[in-house]
Amino acid sequence: DIFPGQNEGMVRGEPGGFVFSREYGRRANEIYQFKPRKDDAWVCTFSKSGTTWTQELVWLIANGCDTEKAKQIPLQMRSPYLEGDYLISPEKMPQEIRECWALEALTKRPSPRVIKSHLPFNLLPPQLLETSKVVYVARNPKDVIVSNYHHFKLFKFHDFKGTLEDFANYSMDGQIYYSPYFPHVLDAWSKRHYPNVLFLFYEEMKQDLRAVVERVAAHLNQTVTEEQMVRVLEYLSFKNLASTEAAGKEKVKEMGIMNEDAGTFFRKGKTGDWKNHFSPELNERIDKWIQDNLAGSDLKFVMEL
Ligand code: A3P
Repeated sequence: DIFPGQNEGMVRGEPGGFVFSREYGRRANEIYQFKPRKDDAWVCTFSKSGTTWTQELVWLIANGCDTEKAKQIPLQMRSPYLEGDYLISPEKMPQEIRECWALEALTKRPSPRVIKSHLPFNLLPPQLLETSKVVYVARNPKDVIVSNYHHFKLFKFHDFKGTLEDFANYSMDGQIYYSPYFPHVLDAWSKRHYPNVLFLFYEEMKQDLRAVVERVAAHLNQTVTEEQMVRVLEYLSFKNLASTEAAGKEKVKEMGIMNEDAGTFFRKGKTGDWKNHFSPELNERIDKWIQDNLAGSDLKFVMEL
């Protein structure tokens, strides 16, 4: 079995449709009926597209750039993962996380809520885009495959045992949790002009984070002083976020959800790392997959910086 961690199986909504856990399949309707609020900020992404980075950014903007509080409280507690509670059976979920991510807890959570989701828009509450502020982040599919490969090896609830090439094939076939990739991103791209949607690229965050902070602040109707900007940029640096993770590592170990010999969550934070991983043959197949899926779209990815 190439995904021993996922031995509870996967469900697919429809042929070629979204793939996620059986637990989600049983309870998808609860999420569909979840009530978004006007003062929520949602961070929606395909997995490994810069979600954590953007959650930290959105949380800071929604909370007066309070970097001190951000340092004290783990992100998972500040910004719950909407369908995280459905990754595995509830009884296997660490209690602390469950208490924070369970939908009832989320329903009672005071505003402003900063909610993370990897679900495509069509599986989220239908009134979301006309109710809450949404920040969607996309990352080029080659770096997503590499980053996701490491992620699927790292987390015990995936426990992927195959090679990178196997993983790339599963990704292109839409056989892994949260896939298929292109319908997810293209649907969000088609909604990028909705007033409540801010569509960002991971690569633009890499290139000019200050400009992205300003755009997020404007989207959430907030202003950021120069003093706050300096602190926010320092806090959001790869180095700082990675060390925050190292500090929280003991907690993660206690939860027992990671394979300890499989690396760290903050891996490289680079654009173009795929070049160190793909054979020319695999790269050619991936190029064709991208080209076929982007035919007729004006969406363009930056593959290297
Ligand atoms: P890599 O695996 O390529 O290093 P997500 O949060 O959606 O799971 O995305 C994780 C990816 O975002 C990882 O990519 C991680 O290193 C990267 N990332 C997180 N914080 C970052 C930062 N401050 N700067 C650049 N990349 C960051």
